[in-house]
Amino acid sequence: MRLDKFLADMNFGSRKEVKQLIKKGWVEVNGQVIRSDKYQVDENKDQIKVDGEQVKYQKDYYYLLNKPAGVVSATVDNFDETVLDLFSDEDFREDLFPVGRLDKDTEGLLLIMNDGQLSHRLLSPKQHVDKEYYAQVAGIMTQEDVQTFAQGMTIDGGESCLPAELSIEAVDEVKQTSEIRLILHEGKFHQVKRMVQAVGKEVTYLKRLRMGQLWLDETLPLGAYRPLTPTERALLEN
Ligand code: URA
Repeated sequence: MRLDKFLADMNFGSRKEVKQLIKKGWVEVNGQVIRSDKYQVDENKDQIKVDGEQVKYQKDYYYLLNKPAGVVSATVDNFDETVLDLFSDEDFREDLFPVGRLDKDTEGLLLIMNDGQLSHRLLSPKQHVDKEYYAQVAGIMTQEDVQTFAQGMTIDGGESCLPAELSIEAVDEVKQTSEIRLILHEGKFHQVKRMVQAVGKEVTYLKRLRMGQLWLDETLPLGAYRPLTPTERALLEN
């Protein structure tokens, strides 16, 4: 690939900005200063340095974010802070995007990547990638609800849901609240909230714990992110 493309891909700036870096003699390929932006490099073999620091080529970026409430799952928004606003200048790239959506008030596991193919596979309705949630609910969830969810229910507007595994973690009879876990095999708009509403209760707090085989890293503070480990990356392929 062209040297300017390599540097732009590696986040050294726009194509225009990296051309300046090259022109000014900041870039070395295999020990030689190169001043031509058209210079062809082998991104996997050549040793490329910018200001004396070696730059390793990486094409795909995968991050796990512990999404806080109050930010939207979008790349840009006119009103709200987005999940990409949480990224540092160093890690931010124009081509990053969130894989699917969590509501503004939902917390937890959100993947951020620049790999459109993998994202497409994870979100494809045909793949039935599991999503596991923890929720706090106003109202008492019952064994009858467990059965209803397991049978595949219809939610408002007549949309039918695939069977889902509901487990009741705690019930507070005095406060009339419940804590649940719910495993879905699809991802409809506001699905958890709408399923709970369909059995006459209301979600008051929602957090995603898992997507496929990938769990939320509970050591990540809300609003923090980190790259996926190679093991985690591999889990997304299964
Ligand atoms: N279901 C919801 O209702 N909200 C989310 O953010 C995710 C799943």
